[in-house]
Amino acid sequence: MVYSQPAAVRPPPDNMMGMSMTDNVLGIDVGGSSIKAGVVDVGAGQMVGELISAPTPRPATPDAMMPVIAALAARLPDAKGRIGLAFPAVVKHGRARTAANVDHAWIGADGGALVRRTLNRPALFLNDADAAGLAEMRFGAGRGENGTVIMLTFGTGIGTALFTGGHLFPNSELGHMELNGMDAEKWASAHVKTVQGLDWEGWIERVNVYLERMHAMFWPDLFILGGAISERFADFAPLLRSEARIRPAQFAGQAGVIGAAIAAVEANA
Ligand code: BGC
Repeated sequence: MVYSQPAAVRPPPDNMMGMSMTDNVLGIDVGGSSIKAGVVDVGAGQMVGELISAPTPRPATPDAMMPVIAALAARLPDAKGRIGLAFPAVVKHGRARTAANVDHAWIGADGGALVRRTLNRPALFLNDADAAGLAEMRFGAGRGENGTVIMLTFGTGIGTALFTGGHLFPNSELGHMELNGMDAEKWASAHVKTVQGLDWEGWIERVNVYLERMHAMFWPDLFILGGAISERFADFAPLLRSEARIRPAQFAGQAGVIGAAIAAVEANA
């Protein structure tokens, strides 16, 4: 495996140029176990103040989640306008189309419209891994990378975001690629590591098999590994192997929040 440092600071892409350094946007990242929120300075690509969170309600329906999102937003009054909402599902034309780790009541739901109705604020709704990938590509481990990049988030499931030339190919869903007769995320997610009691070596061997399969299909120049693996990257990087370069995500648990806010601005939500 070739471990390399991110490229030196480069100017943001043209579509980020219009952002003011003081453009503070609320980013929200819905996960299987918690909903995180923070105010993001989208010009600087960093959070302003702390990352806050609340447990994901059970069942994780739209009706149960909206009050939690409203309460988180109320605790962050510094960001007043648009909201970026990252969500663990395929999002097509503003609507969730899948619900692997949230309640199926989300399928067909327009997350942006729900936020607008609840909070009376404009919102952009997008896939959580796509959001995390945007944060890494614009300001983190993928900054300045123009080749093919695959960002992976290892959590309850496996989220993926595919970029080429700095452009996102949305909703790539490679966590559901078949491996050993099952969804890759049912075999190699961080959640599986925990519930099956795998040690790091055993788990990383699974991650290696997964990276190899993805490499055979997409021939990326770079994999960015986020979620659980980025936390212990220095310890376990020597065990990782791929023909592509491998870097840890830089934003760790904040990537979805930061990326959601960036996406809201890029899309002019
Ligand atoms: C979902 C993806 C999501 C990923 C990470 C998968 O189960 O299908 O949409 O990005 O989990 O949350």
